[in-house]
Amino acid sequence: MEQVLFDYTRQDAEGQSCTAHAWAKVPAPLKQDERTALKARAAALLKAKNAVLVAHYYVDGDLQDLALETGGIVSDSLEMARFGRDHAAQTLVVAGVRFMGESAKILSPEKRVLMPDLDATCSLDLGCPADEFAAFCDAHPDRKVVVYANTSAAVKARADWMVTSSCALDIVSAMHARGEKILWAPDRHLGRYIQEQTGADMLMWNGACIVHDEFKGLELELLREQHPDAMILVHPESPKKVVEMADVVGSTSALIKAVVEGAAQEYIVATDNGILHRMRQLAPGKTLIEAPTAGNSATCKSCAHCPWMAMNGLQNLVDCLETGSGEIFVEEPIRTQAAGCIERMLDFTAALKAGVKSGMTPGIGAA
Ligand code: 13P
Ligand code: SF4
Repeated sequence: MEQVLFDYTRQDAEGQSCTAHAWAKVPAPLKQDERTALKARAAALLKAKNAVLVAHYYVDGDLQDLALETGGIVSDSLEMARFGRDHAAQTLVVAGVRFMGESAKILSPEKRVLMPDLDATCSLDLGCPADEFAAFCDAHPDRKVVVYANTSAAVKARADWMVTSSCALDIVSAMHARGEKILWAPDRHLGRYIQEQTGADMLMWNGACIVHDEFKGLELELLREQHPDAMILVHPESPKKVVEMADVVGSTSALIKAVVEGAAQEYIVATDNGILHRMRQLAPGKTLIEAPTAGNSATCKSCAHCPWMAMNGLQNLVDCLETGSGEIFVEEPIRTQAAGCIERMLDFTAALKAGVKSGMTPGIGAA
């Protein structure tokens, strides 16, 4: 496992840019026979330990396949949370980033939640420290607090609602319809997109995803000229100019659905390139093109891969199952406080799916 230190820009509480440092680790490359053997070992361990693998679309393709082959799930962050909560297994192994493991533990305190590497974090989580966020909330007591899933348990403990990119529009629309003013954190691009779509009064924290923030509108325009019939699919953590060029804006699940159901032959995909694995499996005849993350003079045209998602590998998955390493703990009372906003979101989305009009009836959790 090679350690890599990288710099990224984050915003402090006053919205000032500052450079922060973060560690990422790159799992050692494996030969095909090693991968096959580790995959078989992991499958046997999952069964022996009554464990289920809950994976995100951005992780290594072998982990995604393993999750599906062993009765687990590969999905967006909303469905990961729901699946882990509802599954009977006593151990959840979460292949993704730390907030996903924490959400699983918050919702299922009686289960053991393991992660291949506990250092797999997220720039949105790192860019929203709980103490600075608490001060921001304290300064605006008239606003309902809505936080994105990509935050720590302590930040969620301050929130009225948690949202993911697949339900943020519905939840904020319903809050706006009730006349509620919103304090939003931490992703400024997703927040701006939701604000523009709903017209809600939203005060924003100033965070960003280091992966999606790199997509470049100008370069995307040039790529579109070369592929005029391609559909452009964009995750809403991307900058405004990129979102404005999209044919479809949505969560990872929504973007996969767009490729599967779309009439076009070519798709330009502006999100982490780990998603291409599942898109290729589900839409084998379609042509997928990675959206550009760098300008003309750059040597790397698309480096759209989250360094923390990349820390999940077959070897550390086997290690955590064998030794019980990488266990997630969330202290009480933070856990109980954080559970409220996640459960409210899950109740809201379940009711929406079941066809309850406009969601926020008192029965499903006005905060
Ligand atoms: P989704 O909820 O769309 O899966 O996104 C999670 C994430 O971290 C995107 O960068
Ligand atoms: Fe966080 Fe971005 Fe990585 Fe998603 S892709 S986990 S938002 S840093």
